[in-house]
Amino acid sequence: MSSAKKRFLCRLSDLEATGSKGVALHPVSNVATLFVVRYRDSVVAYRNECPHTGVPMDWQPDRFLDLDGVFVICGVHGARFRIGDGHCVQGPCVGESLSSVPIELVAGKVLLLEG
Ligand code: FES
Repeated sequence: MSSAKKRFLCRLSDLEATGSKGVALHPVSNVATLFVVRYRDSVVAYRNECPHTGVPMDWQPDRFLDLDGVFVICGVHGARFRIGDGHCVQGPCVGESLSSVPIELVAGKVLLLEG
């Protein structure tokens, strides 16, 4: 049995509009710390830091995917990342990867596993 604390991030239904959602973990900042993306029948999450320069990647609030919804895209220089594993397949940081964040999907709620 896991001893990790679980923190509510968002509901699965929050991803319906754009396929992704940014979540700010710091109460005094609206900058998304991480983002959650729908992937097949589940979800994945990554830190909102492009491996190229470390800046936030959303090109609009809750917009982390390209227009086809096939890749995560960085809004600064357009690097493309596979949704499933965060690996960069095109752009200035090709071969690098996003930092994945451990989450769990329980009864339609996306939970961050802490500790
Ligand atoms: S900052 Fe993301 S591709 Fe350059």
